[in-house]
Amino acid sequence: MNVLFVSSEVAPFAKSGGLGDVSAALPRQLGALGHDVRVVMPMYPRVRLPGVVFSEVADDVALSLGRHTVRVSLHTAPMPGTRMPVYFVRCPPLFDRPSLYGSSPDEHLRFAVLSWAAFKACQHTGFSPDILHVNDWQTALVPLLLKTRFAWDRLFARTKTVITLHNLGHQGTFPAEVLPETGLGDSAHLFHQDELRAGRLGYLLTGLLHADAITTVSPTYAKEIQTPEQGLRLDPVLRARRDVLTGILNGIDENEWNPAADHHIPQAFSADDLDGKEVCKQALMASVRLPYRPEVPVFGLVSRLVWQKGLDLCVRVLPSLLRHQRCQLVVLGKGEPAYEEFFRTLAMAFPHKVAYDSAFNEARAHLIEAGADLFLMPSRYEPCGLNQMYSLRYGTVPVVHKTGGLADTVWNFDAKTQQGTGFVFEHFDDAGLSWALRRALEVWGSGTGADRARWRTIQRNGMGLPLGWKHRVGRYVELYEQLCS
Ligand code: ADP
Ligand code: GLC
Repeated sequence: MNVLFVSSEVAPFAKSGGLGDVSAALPRQLGALGHDVRVVMPMYPRVRLPGVVFSEVADDVALSLGRHTVRVSLHTAPMPGTRMPVYFVRCPPLFDRPSLYGSSPDEHLRFAVLSWAAFKACQHTGFSPDILHVNDWQTALVPLLLKTRFAWDRLFARTKTVITLHNLGHQGTFPAEVLPETGLGDSAHLFHQDELRAGRLGYLLTGLLHADAITTVSPTYAKEIQTPEQGLRLDPVLRARRDVLTGILNGIDENEWNPAADHHIPQAFSADDLDGKEVCKQALMASVRLPYRPEVPVFGLVSRLVWQKGLDLCVRVLPSLLRHQRCQLVVLGKGEPAYEEFFRTLAMAFPHKVAYDSAFNEARAHLIEAGADLFLMPSRYEPCGLNQMYSLRYGTVPVVHKTGGLADTVWNFDAKTQQGTGFVFEHFDDAGLSWALRRALEVWGSGTGADRARWRTIQRNGMGLPLGWKHRVGRYVELYEQLCS
């Protein structure tokens, strides 16, 4: 099959969170099965990686979007380690910005341009996609563009569209007046009419109305988003389209996230030989300048510091935990100033127990996954979540809220049956998180002898799970085949 995968971020070129990881790993896995997969993304300034050579596909492509004529050029480079073409949409006035996303008044234009350019990339390279697979609001105009502005082109005569929802928290909702600047001014009747009347135009909503199939990144999230509580005003449309909505759990990229072959960590380890993990713990503690104590459990937290991630529970629960319990905490993350301030203050209050780094640092994220004993992920909601899966793979026992993909990937440890891979709390409140943390520390016990042996069991339960994309990709292939048959 020919698949064009369009995303606003693709690792290693540009990544702000899990979308970047998935937009690299899923196309790679599809490519490995022999499908002709190509990827489209914006040419942000950070995209220019050392050693990557770009060649021009088209210069000066003019897009007429309402009162704007936007000029873009298209460039290509292979996805690192493969021959898969990635097409980059270059438009310095729109994409040369310090962060990937923002709240500037032309945000709608930036990603309308990306969506238009995806079609231009096909036209300039003669690529006829069976599937146009788009992701989140940034690329959600593609299905409607296919039905309208590009319906004339025989290149797309057989093309079907799939939209994957990675996070309903971001919907790309703009004032209705921007409609002409989507380049779809003459298709106003195909947007959600009530929303337009209320003065709003939602990119994601438009994608949900027009895509041939809708997927989201875990089965539980697929159910949750059909409820008013978690549908964030999109639930009526999602319920109306439930026949084409499926939840397919994300996988992890085992080339990137594998403790037996990870160039970011000082010693390899595996379920059969966990000695290397202790070396990683030692290296982690040295790198964050905390005392290393083998018998004291270290919690890791790597996250965008935003409301979604349940950090308000941490704000209320962690200070007393750290005061009363033997444990340490290593945090890596950037985000809302109030959360950054909280972790900064926490590190000052507990200088021997807490380290905080407010950076985006891929290598440090790997070292935390490898060196920590537990991983904290109390998300309020979590469409899938990758970090808990990286943690499982690295023998770092996750403590999670039972929601979305966390509920689908982590099972509460039961000391009687010795089954389970982590500590899972059901109620999103202080008592819930406190319970899970207490339970985790209880099971950790002395961290030696029989307690250590029991801990090894939990670690191995998680390390043995089939989490790689190779176990998941088949679901996407089936879906594509269904659509094309
Ligand atoms: P989300 O996409 O909602 O942020 P995921 O768990 O799906 O959550 O993916 C987060 C990804 O971003 C992981 O690969 C994680 O390691 C990475 N990440 C988040 N914050 C940082 C950071 N400060 N430094 C390095 N990697 C980070
Ligand atoms: C989103 C979600 C996260 C998911 C990721 C990749 O950013 O917040 O749960 O894992 O996308 O699908």
